[in-house]
Amino acid sequence: MKDQLTYAMIGGGIGASIGQVHRRAISLDGRATIVAGALSSTPEKSIKSAQELGLDPDRSYATFQELFEREASREDRVDFVSIVTPNDTHYPIARLALEHGFHVVLDKPATHTSMQAQELEELAAAKGLVCCVTYNYTGYPMIRQARAMVRDGVLGTIRKVLLEYHQGWLASDLESTGHKQASWRVDPAKAGLGGALGDIGTHAENLISFVTGLTMKSVYANLHAFVPNRPLDDDVSVLIQYQGGAHGVLTASQICIGETNGISIRIYGDQGGLSWYHASPNDLRVTMLDGNATTYTRGEPGLHDDATFSSHTPPGHPEGYLEAFANIYRGAIDAILLQTSGSDESQLARLTPRIDAGRQGVRFIEKCVESAQKNTRINWV
Ligand SMILES: NC(=O)c1ccc[n+]([C@@H]2O[C@H](COP(=O)([O-])OP(=O)(O)OC[C@H]3O[C@@H](n4cnc5c(N)ncnc54)[C@H](O)[C@@H]3O)[C@@H](O)[C@H]2O)c1
Repeated sequence: MKDQLTYAMIGGGIGASIGQVHRRAISLDGRATIVAGALSSTPEKSIKSAQELGLDPDRSYATFQELFEREASREDRVDFVSIVTPNDTHYPIARLALEHGFHVVLDKPATHTSMQAQELEELAAAKGLVCCVTYNYTGYPMIRQARAMVRDGVLGTIRKVLLEYHQGWLASDLESTGHKQASWRVDPAKAGLGGALGDIGTHAENLISFVTGLTMKSVYANLHAFVPNRPLDDDVSVLIQYQGGAHGVLTASQICIGETNGISIRIYGDQGGLSWYHASPNDLRVTMLDGNATTYTRGEPGLHDDATFSSHTPPGHPEGYLEAFANIYRGAIDAILLQTSGSDESQLARLTPRIDAGRQGVRFIEKCVESAQKNTRINWV
């Protein structure tokens, strides 16, 4: 069975933000190599970016359309495509990739509309292709430990979920300075319906769903732009009701000065509670009703297999963002190999978010925007 894959990247050229993180994360496990790319929004910059990465000139493409057409006719065509372009381009690029028979790894938010995400889901299923979404925070071993414990009922019946995702980099009118990443994120044509909601709120929604498996019943969202004349929200507060009676509070904000990437998840059941903080991702604190508290640490014996298999470094050596990101690709690569070989299910493939999670994330954006516009609670179905 083939165990080394090749991939093409769309986006992630010179001056881009997240593409290089994807490439580093993929290279961490040495199971896939970048051999082709359409890396930028202009042909000249795409070719120059490919040169800087040392790609074969024959596989350095001016546009994604050219890449799919020419790669599809090669005997050594790439196995999958990693899409790291601004949000408005995800759907057309992913669609064309799937139509040409390539597996896809797509950054979030998956698409502009949940209908588009559903189309991708159906297309991938019809073609027997894998389509994953890089909700990278689900890759942390101790997030996976939390998921296993919550789903095994350790906390009892879940009552309350608190999720915070706070940044401060958009606290001022950064877009007016021509800042590349700020400019498209506040433009509805490029970012979609949500500002902070789409950029980081979708990570937050996914983290709750991943860990708890709870199904939403309704959302009541307050969306606000604190920076004058900004057309999309930069501050989000959502009250969530879940089926089964649990309540959630999700806040996502990009105007919290002093916060760089402050994520926390706290979950309380009728038997215990847990907390995880992005600043110390190797630790998970669990406290039981009788007051007995334990800090579980990545790498120590006795953790759930989902956490153990997701570790990269030996116990006592902290690991973080890149290893968690790498876990998403480990799962995606396993899923692609399984799809082609039909062998046993892989633990990591099972944990890697697919396009159905991406569809739910976009639906969350749509429901929150509707709720904020009508200033009322909106049912999930
Ligand atoms: N998973 C995460 O934590 C995370 C973090 C940051 C960004 N993102 C997501 O990644 C995506 C990219 O964000 P970014 O901050 O890197 O943006 P960016 O503006 O820094 O980079 C986008 C890149 O895409 C290229 N591009 C644009 N249109 C293209 C096209 N038609 N063909 C080829 N390349 C094209 C640009 O030239 C640039 O190289 C967004 O969807 C964003 O939401 C995810």
